[in-house]
Amino acid sequence: MISHHPEARLWLLSTPGTSYAFQLDADDVPRHVHWGRPLTLEQAVVIAADLPAEDPGSDDAGGEEYVVEGGLRFGAPSLTVRFDDGVRGFEWRFLSHTVEGGRLTLSFADRVRSLGLDLHYRILDGHDQIERWAVLTADEPVDVLRFDSAAWTLPARDDYRVSHVVGEWGREFQLQRDRVPVGETVFTSRLGITGQHAGPWLMLDAHDATEEHGEVWSAALAWSGSRRITLRRDPYGRASWTGGFGHEGLVWKLVPGESLETPVFTGLYAPDGFGGASRRWHAYIERQVLPARPAERPLIFNSWEATEFDITEKQQAELAELAAGVGIEVFVVDDAWFGTRTSDMAGLGDWWPNPDRFPAGLGPLADRVRALGMGFGLWVEPEGVNPDSDLFRAHPDWILHQDGRTRTLRRNQHVLNFARRDVREWAVEWLVRTVTELDVVFLKWDMNRSFSEVGQPGAADPDRIWIEHTRGVYEVMDRLRAARPGLYLESCAGGGGRADLGVLARADQVWTSDNTDAADRIAIQHGHCQLLPARTMGAWVTDSPNSFTARPTSIRYRFHVSMAGAMGIGGDLRKWSEEDLAWARMLVEQYKRIRPVVHGGALYRLDHDAVQYLTEDEVVVFQFQPSALNRSVVRTRLKGLDPDARYRDVATGAVHEGAVLLGHGLPPLLSFDWTSELVHLRRVPR
Ligand code: DGJ
Repeated sequence: MISHHPEARLWLLSTPGTSYAFQLDADDVPRHVHWGRPLTLEQAVVIAADLPAEDPGSDDAGGEEYVVEGGLRFGAPSLTVRFDDGVRGFEWRFLSHTVEGGRLTLSFADRVRSLGLDLHYRILDGHDQIERWAVLTADEPVDVLRFDSAAWTLPARDDYRVSHVVGEWGREFQLQRDRVPVGETVFTSRLGITGQHAGPWLMLDAHDATEEHGEVWSAALAWSGSRRITLRRDPYGRASWTGGFGHEGLVWKLVPGESLETPVFTGLYAPDGFGGASRRWHAYIERQVLPARPAERPLIFNSWEATEFDITEKQQAELAELAAGVGIEVFVVDDAWFGTRTSDMAGLGDWWPNPDRFPAGLGPLADRVRALGMGFGLWVEPEGVNPDSDLFRAHPDWILHQDGRTRTLRRNQHVLNFARRDVREWAVEWLVRTVTELDVVFLKWDMNRSFSEVGQPGAADPDRIWIEHTRGVYEVMDRLRAARPGLYLESCAGGGGRADLGVLARADQVWTSDNTDAADRIAIQHGHCQLLPARTMGAWVTDSPNSFTARPTSIRYRFHVSMAGAMGIGGDLRKWSEEDLAWARMLVEQYKRIRPVVHGGALYRLDHDAVQYLTEDEVVVFQFQPSALNRSVVRTRLKGLDPDARYRDVATGAVHEGAVLLGHGLPPLLSFDWTSELVHLRRVPR
């Protein structure tokens, strides 16, 4: 619900578990009032009346709802503009507000210049998230140096800690918790894509939150391009952050009549620890962000680790046969099915089946896959092009480039400029045609390099490519989905390099990491699920020893780790023993039984790397043993169960009391390194 107090010039956004309030001061400056536990409108007005108008000891009043440049403001601004005559900044003049359902829009203009700024808020039934974004409208030419979606202000606390994920190729989503220093900390991507080095979200607490207790404030940016979130703790200890698309140094030019809209930056307050924050994010992403479809993701086989660039029709058919035998639902042919692509040196951009490898096209393989009872899937990298390709030879100007500058290669490829309409039309045409002709049901959309020499010679506003490329990718994905509504999309960027709420409005899941070592995956999956639901977490079972780390692990352990997400198989099934294939069949059957709980239930992180999924009537728990030396005598206590209910172990038939599972837990694992246990419980009537 959105309420307004006209005399106090205050707005209150109320969600089931949160209140969020701000007001306009006498100079029309929007000032933050409250973000936390529920309040009445009257209580919010009391708090607002108590806010210091100006701090005599401080240059910077702080606490602004959206920080513009100008006046006594010395922190990182959310908006920086420069007009043609060199005048900078924005002076607030309030025009109007509108409320439509859960949407609140406040319209402002600069006091003297022809520049409008709208601040947007949206709340959604049943969720505690607050979505925010902004729109800038120019009626005179203006350079935009920074234009953030929103600034978020925290209540005063003695200390703050920030939780976020960092990483690299093969080691994505590593959760980190750091004390927030006094000063400004910038969380950014200048890559043009989301990146593996950091996720586009933050969680803050007062250094007192635990998994199930304490207040946590968080925000996630729905954007897959370059970004910047500046977290500030001022010398008085207050914390706030502002963030949006783009990074420092970029300048976007607005001409009269033009508007620029930011991506959505969604904030969440949770009173019940990091676990509570994660479950709220999962519910929001599942119901409000992801494309609407049933929770359960298909069980795929992906050919990459098995065959890499060395693929043939016969060998893929053999793999398909084996995959069908273990219960796979969709068979996905990864890289190297097209053009002259037999390594990463050539062929990227030539999206027709390699005539040497598939003389009659992909149709016969796709038909074979379907005859085996599976759907057919494909890998593509629409934004990539090798210089050694017919596409590049025909359109050397389609890539990001600048006159007179080196065209830097990475993985022997350039980035196609999706800010160009002709490039987008080309992509939509071949993608829709390929997916339609082959009846592709699962498409892995990869992106294997960061941007360099971003430009388009002759463009009036060359830095706009940093925005328009990402929007172009979204447009192509949206048009593809509209043309093929049943298609599953997987977002990949050399592993988990494009995992954000922008792409997840179009993609059903993420390829989490090229590191498929089940032991390493525990930390990767732990980080992924801080924000993103398990159903979005692509997780293949691959060979042992692992091709990435050479670590041997049991088939049961590898399956259990993958079963905690959107499982797939990515190993070379031709090399699996009969015994392994039998295990695979059995574990796949078990996965299909627990999948509704893993993909549709609430996720609880338990002690000792254990993870639990809970629906109304079912509980699934995975326990993982990192090392026998680290063997724990502490039992794994479950969470969220009904203490008065009884739960039957589906495998053993043993009946447990809810109160005992909550208070005392499951027995510890008493076995060797890298072992695991899966417990599936069903609630039984009293
Ligand atoms: C990078 C991806 O992360 C891999 O899974 C695989 O698809 C390769 N690209 C193919 O080139």
